[in-house]
Amino acid sequence: MFASQNLQGEVKVQGAKNSILKLMIAAMLTQGEQTFTNCPDITDVHDMGEIITSLGGKVKYEPHTISITSNGFHDCKLDANLIEKMRASVALLGPMLSTLKEVRLPLPGGDDFGSRPVDIHVRCLEAMGAEIKLSSKEIYAKLQKKRLIGTRLVLEYPSHTTTDNLIMAAVLAEGETVIENAAREPEVVDLANFLNSLGAKIQGAGTSRIVIDGIDKLTGSVVHEVIPDRVEAATLISAVGIAGGDVNLIDAVPFNMDMLLVRLDDMGMKFKPISNGLNVKSTKRTISRDVQTLPYPGIATDYKPAIVTLLSVSEGTSVVTENIFIGRFRYVEELLKMGANVTTEGHHVIVRGVESLIGATVESHDIRAGAALVLAGLKAEGETTITNVHHIDRGYENLPRKLQSIGANVAYVE
Ligand code: EPU
Repeated sequence: MFASQNLQGEVKVQGAKNSILKLMIAAMLTQGEQTFTNCPDITDVHDMGEIITSLGGKVKYEPHTISITSNGFHDCKLDANLIEKMRASVALLGPMLSTLKEVRLPLPGGDDFGSRPVDIHVRCLEAMGAEIKLSSKEIYAKLQKKRLIGTRLVLEYPSHTTTDNLIMAAVLAEGETVIENAAREPEVVDLANFLNSLGAKIQGAGTSRIVIDGIDKLTGSVVHEVIPDRVEAATLISAVGIAGGDVNLIDAVPFNMDMLLVRLDDMGMKFKPISNGLNVKSTKRTISRDVQTLPYPGIATDYKPAIVTLLSVSEGTSVVTENIFIGRFRYVEELLKMGANVTTEGHHVIVRGVESLIGATVESHDIRAGAALVLAGLKAEGETTITNVHHIDRGYENLPRKLQSIGANVAYVE
């Protein structure tokens, strides 16, 4: 990959990874065929497809569309190697328990940001009547009664996947479930909208209080369009900030990235909503500003590696604080190899902007970190080679081709 300048043109934002993975699980809560359009062609979707197939679902792929025909979850021994590939697989726990009454779920894996506990999932499902044993390898859960029982659940943290998990557990539970301090992410709303289209009674998704009236069964076959991926959009926006340029992001939803856009505007970037997305402009070197990650609607932890990369070539010094995954800084050592001036102190990084980076061979440690290194290469003198790009492909549909289409000099190499 060679340093390139000035991105121009238009590029379409893919469907949201963190929506489709949960939607695929939700499709198994009913019988019939569910079709998801605007589905990103990423490896996590294919891996989730394998999990769904192992659970009795029939998965059909067409370009940007995936159909799942389900007859309910089949009881089977889940393949630990598959479950370990992604964090989203923990969202199988609630819906499988609710319908099969007993589940052995190998512990989910996903990106390595340090400790990623499942205590809130476990405590809430216990409150709904599950008996759960947690070992270092698996979560074993069993219903004490015939169904999960609706109750008031208070999340001590608005965990995204816990909220998804509990919604899917509660739709077929007995009585009313109230989730207080629920995650408010747009992907949670997407999941609730899909389930409601099958007859579920979920109210309040997108707010901190979600109320679910349990029903006996979900019915119907629907076509559901996956919402656009705000993290991919933020990555492409950061690319424009780093390389400079004028790009229309087709399908980007500015409303879902409000806090990020306010901060980037403050750094000197320009945004204009257009009829089918967002126009993004960066005509001069951005100015450093402090950033801290927060639960939605705050600036997402998933945007941070790209933002730190942008700050590393901005004018001035900034402090970036990670409040969600304290250990999510492994990309910093790679940026240092490229000449960035970044110091880590606990869950803060101090970024002193440099004029440009230097091409180097760097390693992708996770999805967003890998993507951030691709962006760093846009502002590096000479060639940058990124290894372990399979991490990037878990969440981005051909990021190099997208960047190429707006003028970046980047490609996969053997
Ligand atoms: N947490 C607990 N206990 C729990 C669950 C979560 O302490 O039982 C803590 C976590 O350790 C973390 C915080 O709560 O400190 C937030 O975790 P959350 O559960 O919200 O994250 P997640 O649902 O595991 C999703 C996305 C991540 C994204 C985070 C934060 C999916 C599959 N993953 O993870 O996406 O970073 O929300 O927004 O939806 C990515 O796409 O690259 C990615 C990592």
